[in-house]
Amino acid sequence: MFEPVRMLGLIRTVSVCLLALSGLQAAASGIHSVFTVQAPEGQWVVRALTTTAHCPKIQWDRKKAEQMKVRAPQGEVPVRSDAVQSDSKPAVFDITSCEAHWPKGAKSAKIEGRAVPAPGKTLQRILIIADTGCRLKASENAFQDCNDADKWPFQKVAQSAAKLKPDLVVHIGDIHYRESPCPEGRAGCAGATWGYGWDAWRDDFFKPAQPLLAAAPWLFVRGNHESCFRAGQGWFRFVDALPWTQARNCNDPANDMQGDFSEPYAVSLSKFAQFIVFDSSKSSGKAYQPEDPAFLKYQAQVQLAAQLATKKAESFFINHHPLLAAASSPDASKFRPGGSAGLQSVFSMSEPQRLFPANVSVAMHGHVHLFEAISFQTDHPVSLVMGNSGSMNEGFAPKDIKPTDRVYKDAVVDNYASRSDYGFATLDRVFEGGQETWLLTEYTTEGQAVIHCKLKQGKSRCD
Ligand SMILES: [Fe+2]
Repeated sequence: MFEPVRMLGLIRTVSVCLLALSGLQAAASGIHSVFTVQAPEGQWVVRALTTTAHCPKIQWDRKKAEQMKVRAPQGEVPVRSDAVQSDSKPAVFDITSCEAHWPKGAKSAKIEGRAVPAPGKTLQRILIIADTGCRLKASENAFQDCNDADKWPFQKVAQSAAKLKPDLVVHIGDIHYRESPCPEGRAGCAGATWGYGWDAWRDDFFKPAQPLLAAAPWLFVRGNHESCFRAGQGWFRFVDALPWTQARNCNDPANDMQGDFSEPYAVSLSKFAQFIVFDSSKSSGKAYQPEDPAFLKYQAQVQLAAQLATKKAESFFINHHPLLAAASSPDASKFRPGGSAGLQSVFSMSEPQRLFPANVSVAMHGHVHLFEAISFQTDHPVSLVMGNSGSMNEGFAPKDIKPTDRVYKDAVVDNYASRSDYGFATLDRVFEGGQETWLLTEYTTEGQAVIHCKLKQGKSRCD
């Protein structure tokens, strides 16, 4: 006999059990983040970060699920002997970093039912962010309000950016900013995690970035905040594209000459264009002496980059520190050059005038917390600065750059656009008269397009 009340009770019990089971499963899996990283030679690596000691399985298309490998096990890394922060503490990584290489031909992947962002066949839209973390730095008395979504807007940026459905996300460095504890009595950052361990990485990046990590594969470019004596340990555990090794994990300062200088690599964008990814994390703001070991390292890497640049008609050079840029200042009517004197001293050895190898048409950077698009009358690549995606604003970009203002030697600016508020950018590949060109768009944190630039043959024109 049908008994509606008993039946309803049974349905409720079954639902509660199913919910409890799925909750248990999620807790048992312990997976915090799943994402895809662009690696050299057109390779892709899937990463899963999990609170369990073992790695989950990954299923390629409809094949039998395979075990992911441990990239970096959980552990506690003592404070490095060269620690610069007065509040240094051991870095606790109570998270296992797992990985699997994307097999040729595989179209999709799942990790415990969770879809993994798949590399697309062609790239149409590239999303660009940089300098995203919440600044907590006692030595500079700089404390951003990490608890206020308007004052630290990275989560908003990630949400708005994900809606634009990019094919690739590029982070041009300075991911981690939480280096000191929030001072007592400051509500804006009260309770904020800090230090170089997982909890600060989680809150500064992996939590707010979730919608964008799920939207597309990522290309990570290293900033000075990810150099070995800062958050380099997390850089190598989580987002660096190459294998995690003792020489390249930043745990021991004795290995820094390897850990701080990754070789440049190319990433194909189309038949005609490529990115050249360059690690400038350790570079100095001052010109190098030619006998400085860092100078010699960078010089060899610039030569490698020049070789890579010969492989495609057009190269977009990406590194964190700008070489051709205007500095930010408290007064928007003032112009001051803002390029890295350290990198200029190295790059000018092979290219004294234009600094970049001949086929480099665009240089893309972060580091300065604003947006600049600079095009030159002279033979210099377009220089883009896009460091405004969340970390504390440090002043204004100059309103204008006059033809007499020089960002570097005789580089004459003929088109300039800037924005000093938070935001992010896209690069869209378009064809014009059968020729590949790129549209650069700068957005507010809410995703409203505010600046449009056309990039063509090493020049940009912004509205
Ligand atoms: Fe930086």
